[in-house]
Amino acid sequence: MTSAVTIPRHGGTGARTAVAARARQVVKAYGAGETRVVALDHVDVDILRGQFTAIMGPSGSGKSTLMHCLAGLDTVTSGQIFLDDTEITKLKDKKLTQLRRDRVGFIFQAFNLLPTLNAIENITLPMDIAGRKPDREWLERVVDTVGLAGRLKHRPSQLSGGQQQRVAVARALAARPEIIFGDEPTGNLDSRAGAEVLGFLRRSVDELGQTIVMVTHDPVAASYADRVLYLADGRIVDEMHAPTAEQVLDRMKDFDARGRTA
Ligand SMILES: Nc1ncnc2c1ncn2[C@@H]1O[C@H](COP(=O)(O)OP(=O)(O)OP(=O)(O)O)[C@@H](O)[C@H]1O
Ligand SMILES: [Mg+2]
Repeated sequence: MTSAVTIPRHGGTGARTAVAARARQVVKAYGAGETRVVALDHVDVDILRGQFTAIMGPSGSGKSTLMHCLAGLDTVTSGQIFLDDTEITKLKDKKLTQLRRDRVGFIFQAFNLLPTLNAIENITLPMDIAGRKPDREWLERVVDTVGLAGRLKHRPSQLSGGQQQRVAVARALAARPEIIFGDEPTGNLDSRAGAEVLGFLRRSVDELGQTIVMVTHDPVAASYADRVLYLADGRIVDEMHAPTAEQVLDRMKDFDARGRTA
């Protein structure tokens, strides 16, 4: 069984299971009666620790819903979600808020930076709010990894889109969360800035041992991942390992063709 396998925590002490997050028979339905929409239909998935997982699928297939449920940003209709050994579907609001704050990082399509704070202040803001002291050495490594060392005193308006998203990536990494979720984190960037941010996400997995789950429509973005999960109509219908952009694109065309003849 996968949960019996343990690997060292990158902080050094203790050990965690090789599965960072899992969903078991998760159903998420919106509305009732005739307007009921089943966004997730009995989804089972294991997110492996220290891996970069991409979630793909057509618009409306349930990608954001799955990510929000895994991240504890949304409740499920039935089924269970675990973060490491914690069943988050059992937690009350206050504990869930605490868990999100302490153990999960987020990167959204809109960078969500505070305009009045400079880059480094934005990066440490979540920890400041939580009353936690950033680990200086770690912070330097993160800033280095995302290539922001010369830009720390700049405000968001003085940074390019790609640099702003790198601040958001650094903000997510700085608190050393167990897992980072991104919903189309490169959706607002041109291809060059997008490639930069994806490169940094990849490095954070390879060099810092970070676990990342990213929703994307872009085959090139997905090709940075170790594993790509495909959703259709609220179900996981396929997965690929270490794919190239071309392979992802071919698979998407496949699904489109099948969708049209179904
Ligand atoms: N708050 C809501 N109320 C009702 N239905 C919703 C709500 N949020 C999502 N849905 C429905 O659930 C389904 C899945 O939505 P979701 O946002 O997860 O799709 P997605 O795969 O992320 O799509 P996109 O690629 O367009 O972002 C869709 O049919 C959507 O209309
Ligand atoms: Mg979405």
